Amino acid sequence: MSALFSPIELRGLKLANRIMVAPMCQYSAIDGEANDWHFTHINMLALSGAAMFCIEATAVEAIGRITPGCLGLWNDATEAALRPILASVRKHSKAAVAMQLAHAGRKASSHAPWDGGQLIPISEGGWQPEAPSAVPQKENEPAPKALDTAGLARIREAFVATAKRAERLGLDALELHCAHGYLLHEFLSPIANKRTDEYGGSLQNRMRFPLEVYEAVRAVFPEAKPIGVKVSATDWVEGGWDVAQTIEFARELKKRGADWIDVSSGGVSPLQKIPLSPGYQVPFAKDIKEATGLTTIAVGLITEPKQAEEIVASGKADMVALARGMLYDPRWGWHAAAELGGQVAAPPQYWRSQPSTLKELFGKTTFGGR
Ligand SMILES: Cc1cc2nc3c(=O)[nH]c(=O)nc-3n(C[C@H](O)[C@H](O)[C@H](O)COP(=O)(O)O)c2cc1C
Repeated sequence: MSALFSPIELRGLKLANRIMVAPMCQYSAIDGEANDWHFTHINMLALSGAAMFCIEATAVEAIGRITPGCLGLWNDATEAALRPILASVRKHSKAAVAMQLAHAGRKASSHAPWDGGQLIPISEGGWQPEAPSAVPQKENEPAPKALDTAGLARIREAFVATAKRAERLGLDALELHCAHGYLLHEFLSPIANKRTDEYGGSLQNRMRFPLEVYEAVRAVFPEAKPIGVKVSATDWVEGGWDVAQTIEFARELKKRGADWIDVSSGGVSPLQKIPLSPGYQVPFAKDIKEATGLTTIAVGLITEPKQAEEIVASGKADMVALARGMLYDPRWGWHAAAELGGQVAAPPQYWRSQPSTLKELFGKTTFGGR
């Protein structure tokens, strides 16, 4: 019996297996609006065999986009653009669909990675990024604008408004992006947060804004639907955010009913030194799970079915998320089920691909003809 292919419940959401397609920016929207690329990408990976697909970091306001091509959900047009895509997914896939709610903070106004990923100056069509403090991401960059009380309220309300739109679109779950050096992580990390008011300084103060946003979003999203949080467990910089602080943050989130913590790392400082290796962030997920008991998703260089199985079976994490591995093999979940003796839902149009040696892979299937 495969642990990876055993069911799990997140509030009222029942998942048939422990695999999530990690949120992945596509840098392909126009004015935040999804288009034919998102239609193809989302439908494709909703058929991966993962029980949950998480839509990419979705900006809650226009200036909260990382790049001009980032997806958004802040007005009627961005909401309308996602509707037919979700309708198609619902027609053809059994995967739950989550959305990652995000604000880029000081990393906003960047070029797409394939155009170098650097800051777009205002003089070249960029915009003024806003952040906890007027401290730039990279030393030679102009400083972002430090958010004042009105700015904090505006952004909190933008998260709430986007959560309401996500519910109108029928999304099954939300993930709050508190990782990778974007706005909510910037509040947590002493590297980016130099505030002297109640939102900076002590750990309690640095956690305040992300927790306020979590609470505000939780208050408007249906009780039965889960909300998770993605974190960077460490900044990989001496004196930065670290695992001990992440555990405290996870405890606070758990008190407020958070349904999972998705454990990544890094992104806040160009000085980070990351020792990459297979599953390199899994030990952080394990530490957080052990300390808090919060449902944990491990992510980062998980590529092999047996590796994913071991992570879940040994209790290091409750679920795994894959990003690059899913782009490389968009039916990773099918292949993992075949290897581990699990079952996946496949659309009837593809049932004939079931290997003759694996008659139960797609569950109960029929195929007749004359
Ligand atoms: C193309 C691409 C886009 C990404 N966009 C996001 C994103 O929108 N939100 C996020 O939290 N992480 C994002 N990530 C990071 C992944 O979700 C994941 O944490 C990271 O790639 C490590 O997992 P992997 O080794 O399976 O790729 C992105 C990664 C890739 C490759």
